[in-house]
This record gives sequence, structure tokens and C-alpha cells, in this order.
Amino acid sequence: MSVHSEVKRVTTHTLQKMKERGEKISMLTAYDFSFTKIFDEAGIDILLIGDSASNVIAGHETTLPITLEQMIFLASSVVRGAQRCFVICDLPFGTYQGNSKEALNSSIKIMKESGAHAVKLEGGTEVCESIARIVSSGIPVMAHLGLTPQSIYQFGTYNVRAKEDAEAELLLKNAHAVQEAGAFALVLEKIPAALGKRVAEELKIPVIGIGAGMHVDGQVLVMHDMLGITKDFSPRFLRRYLELYDAIKGATAQYIADVKAKDFPNDKEQY
Ligand code: KIV
Repeated sequence: MSVHSEVKRVTTHTLQKMKERGEKISMLTAYDFSFTKIFDEAGIDILLIGDSASNVIAGHETTLPITLEQMIFLASSVVRGAQRCFVICDLPFGTYQGNSKEALNSSIKIMKESGAHAVKLEGGTEVCESIARIVSSGIPVMAHLGLTPQSIYQFGTYNVRAKEDAEAELLLKNAHAVQEAGAFALVLEKIPAALGKRVAEELKIPVIGIGAGMHVDGQVLVMHDMLGITKDFSPRFLRRYLELYDAIKGATAQYIADVKAKDFPNDKEQY
């Protein structure tokens, strides 16, 4: 984050002011330099190197296998493409749940080796000591509640969370707890819109939703879903802005056909 850069960088302060003004925050995932440049130039506020990279980049079934080193490689690529937006890197599964010292060490490694501006972790009261310790070292922390994919084997499904009153009350309690611990923002994944509204109204920090309805302070989507690169993932909350899977497949088929037909390269495309 160069202090001499001409572009005014989005910071946690900017995001807090946006919430206070009622200006919605836009957030996407990103995993590489080239897409980051496009998203940043388009004016995205936050890019997240999500551990969804485990699914969409590495092809794993869950987010659990991705490592700290792999996340750092992706995050450093994103940081090099981001001029204006705020860059957050997920703490992957197994790098912070042990204790708050492990959480701090993993966060410091991410910040030093990738240049990201903040970290994100999943959980409520059980991770509050870690949030407080990371924040006290000067690293901003985003929390994540609702559907928390790192706990998929505990939940068993990717269904909507906190539909019942007891789970909704627990989520509210956890939301207040992570705010008190020092989180600068909270992601809410796949919960009823009415609960998303209540959390956003009760919390002072920005609340970013993915399948948490229209009343939260901002929205996040996984870039592969939003651009239609993933084809078989169609939850109700997803709006596809492009159908890149078909477009790329069509272009690839055309390229193959041109090569086979000796149509590519032509006279003008050679030296
Ligand atoms: O890993 C990820 O992409 C995320 C978003 C869904 C918020 O955590």
C-alpha cells in the first residue's frame, strides 16, 4: 500500500464511513493478477482471496485442503494487481483454530509475505481471543458467520443457516462478540434476509452478505460464479453477470477448428 500512490486506497476507515453514509460496499473474490486488475479498474471496493480457491482454483470438494503457502501465493498475485481496492486474505483451515498465537503467527505470515491489507477467519465466540490478539498487533480482521464452509463436516450440508430462532439468536450473539473483539467487518453467508437486516442494524461495523439479503451493508460473490465460469452452481442468491463457461468453450472450440483447418495462423499472423 504505497503512501505515494496517486489512487486513493480503500481502507477500513473508508468502509466504516460507507456504512455510516448508507453507501453499499462491493466485494468479490479474486485469486490472480489479471482478473484483479480488471476488478480494480472497474471500481470494486474489496477483493477477497477466499479459501474458495480450494474449490474454484484447485478443484477440491471443500475449502479444507488449501494451505497457508498456497493462499499467500494467490494473495501476493492479487496484491500486485490492486491499486485502489482493499485486499483481504482468508486464513485457511488449520492455521488459526489451534490457539490465538497460531492465529497471530499465520496472520503475520500472510501480511508479510503477500502484502494483503487484512485477514478473514470463520467463527464466533470461539475465535474472539484470536481476533483480539491479531487486531492488537495492527492487523485488521474480518469475521465470517452463518454458513462457514470450513465447518462443513460439522454441519453436513450447505443449506441456509439460522432459520430457527435459537440458531438466529446464537448468530446475533456471535456477531456482537466478534465486533467487541475488534473485527472491522463481518461476512454473513446464506442466512435469512430478515436476520441479515437485524445484524446490519445492530452492528456498528460493515456487514457484507453472500446470500444474506438486500439489507446488509454490502455484497460479496465468488468471481467464478458471478462471471458464469462455474456452471453447475446455482444457489438462489447468485446473479450471473456473464456466461463465460460457454463463451470460453466456444472460443476454444473455434481455435481448435482453425488450427486443424490450417486457417490459423494466416499470412498476417506470421513473421
Ligand atoms: O472463500 C470465500 O470465497 C468466501 C466468500 C464466500 C465470502 O469466504
